Amino acid sequence: MNIKKIIADCIHYKNIDFENMIIESISQDKGDYSIPCFPLAKQEKKSPMIIAEEIKNSIIPNDYIKKVEIVGGYLNFFLNIEKISSEVLKEYSQKSSFSSQEGKNKIVCIDYASPNLAKYLHIGHLKTTIIGESLARLFEQKGYTVKRLNYVGDYGTPFGKIIGGLQKWGSIEDVKQRGNEALQEYYVKFNKEEESNPELTQYARGIFKKIEEKDPEVYPLYEFIISIARADSEKMFDLLGVKFDDWRGESYYNTFVPEIVKMLNEKHLLTTSEGAKIVDLSPYDLTPAVILKSDGTSLYTTRDICAVIERKKYYNFDKMMYVTDIAQILNFKQLFKIIELAGFDFYKDMEHVAYGRFSLPEGKISSRRGKQAVLVDLAEYTTNKAREVIEGRTFNIEKPENVVKKVTRAVLNFSVLKTERIKDSVFEIDKAFAFDGETAPYMLYTYTRLASILRKYEQNNAFQVSKNLDFSSFDENAFELVKYINTFVDIIDLALTKRDPSILCKRLMDICKTFNKYYNATKIIDGDENSTNAKIELIKVLKNTLSVGFNLICIDSLEEM
Ligand code: ARG
Repeated sequence: MNIKKIIADCIHYKNIDFENMIIESISQDKGDYSIPCFPLAKQEKKSPMIIAEEIKNSIIPNDYIKKVEIVGGYLNFFLNIEKISSEVLKEYSQKSSFSSQEGKNKIVCIDYASPNLAKYLHIGHLKTTIIGESLARLFEQKGYTVKRLNYVGDYGTPFGKIIGGLQKWGSIEDVKQRGNEALQEYYVKFNKEEESNPELTQYARGIFKKIEEKDPEVYPLYEFIISIARADSEKMFDLLGVKFDDWRGESYYNTFVPEIVKMLNEKHLLTTSEGAKIVDLSPYDLTPAVILKSDGTSLYTTRDICAVIERKKYYNFDKMMYVTDIAQILNFKQLFKIIELAGFDFYKDMEHVAYGRFSLPEGKISSRRGKQAVLVDLAEYTTNKAREVIEGRTFNIEKPENVVKKVTRAVLNFSVLKTERIKDSVFEIDKAFAFDGETAPYMLYTYTRLASILRKYEQNNAFQVSKNLDFSSFDENAFELVKYINTFVDIIDLALTKRDPSILCKRLMDICKTFNKYYNATKIIDGDENSTNAKIELIKVLKNTLSVGFNLICIDSLEEM
C-alpha cells in the first residue's frame, strides 16, 4: 500500500506533487506522516502556517486518515490504524508478496569470493563472499537469473612452488592425509628456502611453465593440488551457505590470451614499451595497462579481459558485477576502459562493487599462518563460541548441531553485512554473541519468539473457531511494525540499488527491536478471540517478513534457540 500516495491524493492544493514531500513524522504525537510546509512557503511567499492552513482546507477526507493537525509549519497526518493494519497485513500475508518479476529474463553474473587457491582463505574473503551472495539473493528476489561465479586464482608461479615443495619435501600421501594444510606448508617452506637459494625461483617458474604446457608429469599433480585446495575452500563456502555455479578461474581464461592479444592488436590498442605490450590509457587519466610482460606472460588484467569477453559469449549477461576489495579499483577501471575501447558495448553493464577493509581486533586469533587471520581459524573460533552459547539449552524442534551451524553462519555473515559496504570495519567477534546487543543472535532470538507464540496459538484450538480480526487493540508499536512491513519492499529495493545489504540489516534490526518493545507491553493471546486473531496475523506476517529479510542477508532462521 502506498500510504504517501493515499495522503497526497486527498490534497487538492494547486498542482503540487505532495507525495515526495511527505516524510515520516519525527514522533508519535506528531502523527504518522508529516508535510513540512517551509519550502512551499518560500515559493509562495506566505508564512508556513498559512500555507499549512490552506493545504488543510483543500483536503477531501477519506477513511485512511483519522485527523490532520497543524503544528509549527508542519501538517501532521494521523492515520486510521485499524483500516491500514488490516489492509497491509492482508497484502503481505504471503512470502511471495515481497518479491517481484522485474528482472525476469535478465541475467546477472556476479564474480565474488574468487580466492587465490595457492593460499588460505583469509578474513577479507569473508567480505567478498557474503556481500556477493547477499547481492545475488537480492537480484533473485527481483526475478533476475543470477550466475554465481567463483573466479579462482589457479594460475601462476605459486603453483610451481607448491609442486616444487611437494616434490622436495612432501608426498601425495601426505597431501591426501593433511589436505590443504600440507600444501600451505610446502608453499611457506619453499618461499623461505628461496631467500637463501634464488635458483628455486627459476625452478618454480619452470614447473609452472610445464603446467601451462600440460606436461604429462606435472599437470596431473597440478590438477590434484587444485582439487584439494578447492575442496578446502568449498567446505568454507558450505559453512557460510554459499554455492557457486561456475568455478572457471584464471587458468581457464588464460587460454584465450593469444586470440585476445591478436584482437587488441588488430584494433590498434597495443603499443610496445620496454618489450612489454601495453594499452596506453593516459587520455583517460589512467596508468597504462600491461597486457603482456616482455617475457610474453599475461597479467591479472589481461586474464580479466579474456574472462569478460568469454562470459559475455557464454552467459550473454545483462550485468556483470565484480565484488572485491577497494584496492582493486584501478584494475577494474582499466578493464572497463579497455573493453569500451575495444568496441564492446557491454562495458556499460560492467560494474565494480568495491568494499572497505574488514579485520579482527589486534591480536585476536593470531595469524599463525599469514598476515591476515585465516578463515578456517575464524570459523573454528566462532563455532566454538556458538556451541558455548547454546550449551545447556534444550530443543524440541531444531537439532542442536544445526543450531550451532546456523548461529555460526549468522554471526559471521551479519558481521560483514551490518556495516556500510564501503566502510572499513573491525569484527568485534566476542560482542557479536550477546543476546541483548545489535547482534545476529538477538535477531535470531526475536524470530524464535515469533515462532513460539504461533506454536502456542496453534495448540490453543479455542481461538481458531472464527477468523474475524479485530485491530482495535493495535497501539503505536503495533502500527510501527505494520508500517515497517508496508515499506519492506522499498528497503529491499534500496539495498539492491545501493548494492548495500547494510540497509536491510539496519531495518531488520529495527523491526526486531520494535517487536520486542511491543511484546513486552502486550499480551498477545488475551481473552478476546478476534483481538487475538488480529495480533496473531501481525505476528505471522512479521515472521514472514523476517524470514525473507534474513535470507537476503544470508542468515537462516531458527524455530527455536
Ligand atoms: N583473486 C582475486 C583476489 O583474491 C580476486 C578476483 C576478483 N575477480 C576478478 N575477476 N578479478 O584478490
